[in-house]
Amino acid sequence: MSDVRMMVADKRNYAVRTTEDAKQIVAAYLRDTALSRYDISFGLPEINDRYHIWKVPLLHLKEAVGDIVVNAFTKEIDLQLSSEAAIIQKRIEANSSSSSQTTRKNRKKKKEYVISNLDNMIIKGRSELALKTLPEQSIDLIFTSPPYYNARKQYSEFETYDDYLLLMRKVIRECKRVLIDGKFFVINTSHVLIPRNSRNESSSRIAVPFDIHQIFIEEGFEFVDDIIWQKPEGAGWASGRGRRFSADRNPMQYKAVPVTEYVMVYRKKPCVLIDHFIRDNPNQAIIEASKIEDGYEKTNVWYISPARDKRHPAVFPAELAEKVIKYYSFVNDVVLDPFGGIGTTAKAAKKLGRRFCTIEVSDDYIQHTINELEYNLIDIMNDHKMVYEDLSDLQEDGEFKSFEHLVHELLANGHTKEELYDALLKGLH
Ligand SMILES: C[S@@+](CC[C@H](N)C(=O)[O-])C[C@H]1O[C@@H](n2cnc3c(N)ncnc32)[C@H](O)[C@@H]1O
Repeated sequence: MSDVRMMVADKRNYAVRTTEDAKQIVAAYLRDTALSRYDISFGLPEINDRYHIWKVPLLHLKEAVGDIVVNAFTKEIDLQLSSEAAIIQKRIEANSSSSSQTTRKNRKKKKEYVISNLDNMIIKGRSELALKTLPEQSIDLIFTSPPYYNARKQYSEFETYDDYLLLMRKVIRECKRVLIDGKFFVINTSHVLIPRNSRNESSSRIAVPFDIHQIFIEEGFEFVDDIIWQKPEGAGWASGRGRRFSADRNPMQYKAVPVTEYVMVYRKKPCVLIDHFIRDNPNQAIIEASKIEDGYEKTNVWYISPARDKRHPAVFPAELAEKVIKYYSFVNDVVLDPFGGIGTTAKAAKKLGRRFCTIEVSDDYIQHTINELEYNLIDIMNDHKMVYEDLSDLQEDGEFKSFEHLVHELLANGHTKEELYDALLKGLH
């Protein structure tokens, strides 16, 4: 051995001179312990000439599971500085089960390269019900902007905020079922301003994106990114926020003018390696055709002007839909929008050579979607058929209640929080 370790060992006149010496001492020690039944190998021993020790890393299936420390003068094992045998054992056992699970999953994943056979679809109906008619794992990307809680009375009215969140949960749950494992769900939301009822009150805001985030996590999605869609400064003045401060300039009256919305990115668990979707795709021409050109968004702040459309009060810009579709799907993939509006996502998907599935409850908006897409039918339909389904008569088959809903119902019926805690704790014991 010609390295620094040997020079140091020589200079210090250690009894343990080489990395091999250190490994042999540790191997002999392990033979007499409970760890002898595991398949342990060694990493590269390190010398520490301040404390006159050799530290020998223990590896199990290439994962570090602890260190054994040898006194460089006496060749004895320093148990105080070494990892505890019981901890090493626990790590080895955890490592064995996680690595066998990963191997099992990898084997399964390899077999399952899912290619959806869905045609282009325009569905009229309530998403929480209509989604149930779509096959499991038939969607490659979901991009949507849900109705804003009571922000615009034209198209959404909910009795309570819990009702709103319940709809979100139902849709997110069904979306998870139809989305292919490991694929993306991108959702555009923003905080909602509840205007004041009189001059004596102040307006309030509901942090809708954060509540929806919680639902995504509970429903089995992994959080990937929070992209901020930034609009030009003028876009926020319509909200009325910040006007009072701008006139009076009193501290505490300050309110920031909102010029951003969230574009939250989630992935359906299990989060299959992205590589799988690239390497294992049987049609590599699709991978080539889907490459993203220069000039893509490099940060999580995207500057995009808002869109206006006489036919719908809350469309998102085609530019936003196109970016999301390009960054999170491949050519020929199926892109679903469960709150499709007048079909901005569907149009962008077709333009980019993807298939689409758009669901919308309002007859008017469905008509606009159909008109818009039919005009360009020949150009953009590629080889895929288009299916139109009217599922507006679908009924709920049972009552679905979220946990929050149940809690609120119980509180509204006169139960106290303490009673609920007690009942929950009793149930757990
Ligand atoms: C924010 S808008 C989406 C606009 C769309 N991104 C566009 O650019 O046209 C939300 C849409 O969800 C629709 N909607 C509300 N509740 C629904 C439900 N339960 N199922 C399906 N669509 C619904 C509304 O009619 C509205 O058009």
